Amino acid sequence: MVYGLGIESSCDETSIAIVKDGKDLISLKVYSQIETHSPYRGVVPEIASRAHLEKINSLLAVCMEESQLSYADLSYIAVTGYPGLVGSLMIGAQLARCISLVHSIPIVLVNHLEAHLAVIGLEKDLPAFPWLGVLLSGGNSSIYFYKGFGDLELLADTLDDSLGEAFDKVSAILKLPYPGGPTIEKKAQAYVRPKGELSPFPKLLKEDGPDSIRFSYSGLKTAVLYYLKSLTEPFPIEKISYYFQKTAFELVVRNITKAIETTKIKTVVAAGGVLANETLRSLLEEESLKRSFQLHYPQKKIYCTDNGAMVACLGYHLWKEKKYVGLDFKVSPKRNFEQIL
Ligand code: KG4
Repeated sequence: MVYGLGIESSCDETSIAIVKDGKDLISLKVYSQIETHSPYRGVVPEIASRAHLEKINSLLAVCMEESQLSYADLSYIAVTGYPGLVGSLMIGAQLARCISLVHSIPIVLVNHLEAHLAVIGLEKDLPAFPWLGVLLSGGNSSIYFYKGFGDLELLADTLDDSLGEAFDKVSAILKLPYPGGPTIEKKAQAYVRPKGELSPFPKLLKEDGPDSIRFSYSGLKTAVLYYLKSLTEPFPIEKISYYFQKTAFELVVRNITKAIETTKIKTVVAAGGVLANETLRSLLEEESLKRSFQLHYPQKKIYCTDNGAMVACLGYHLWKEKKYVGLDFKVSPKRNFEQIL
């Protein structure tokens, strides 16, 4: 049996987990800083680092106690090394270094984005590579050609706002709370669309050739703003939420379809905070049946947001390949591993 520790501190969740054999969750603790950052409607890096520092040791202690394991039972420490807020990443990195130094346990450095995709290994046997990895979060709207552990090629990216960011900004425009995703989802679900009603928002991004796969959400955000300006109060918040979500998700489906057509890969793994959205989940399920692709996404919503379990899960595979790093490893805001070594 192989037990691994996962440490996540890249953004606004401090999390520690212990995973067995890369697939069985033994313990997971997540401290969300959402309430701390919500008055600012976004993550404040300095505040995030301080909050990680305050919480991380006690989360580790609780996790170790719950697991009934000792440090000697751990085969590896997996820690998020990139991408993320550097000051926050350094908190997790330093904890990993301390444990490694005291207990002589090897460290593996984990790509946060890859971990979001690999987390499905905690719920089912991993499908055979290659996958199309679709990442929809607060910081990313991207599609990867995922060839194997540690081997990702970026196929599609966002030109401006990410999908989660668009949810958060539209929520601010509508004077709804931060983060916007869960509230907008609820408002959208409450809307009963009259038969034949047209969307007040234009379609996103003109089709410009089969090979061009891009995300862009700032235009939709501006369309929401201008639509609101054209109205008098009270604003139809449910209607706006409904059409915002619908338009935003249409681009997700279009891009996945294009990526499948371009690469011929029919295994799609979708992940990230926005995958907590039930409307998106059902839409992707429908599409997977219609277009015969294999769809995977984390069933448990705690695996959609940042968590230490996904880090320990991916860390297991890197540990098996002996991809250890020395105590002097670096962390980085960048997405590309080669760029940080
Ligand atoms: O992956 P994640 O937890 O972390 C970051 O990237 O920071 O994603 C957070 C994002 C936020 O923008 C939030 O509004 C969005 O995920 N989100 C949702 C939902 N729950 C969270 N978006 C749409 N629908 C949801 N139910």
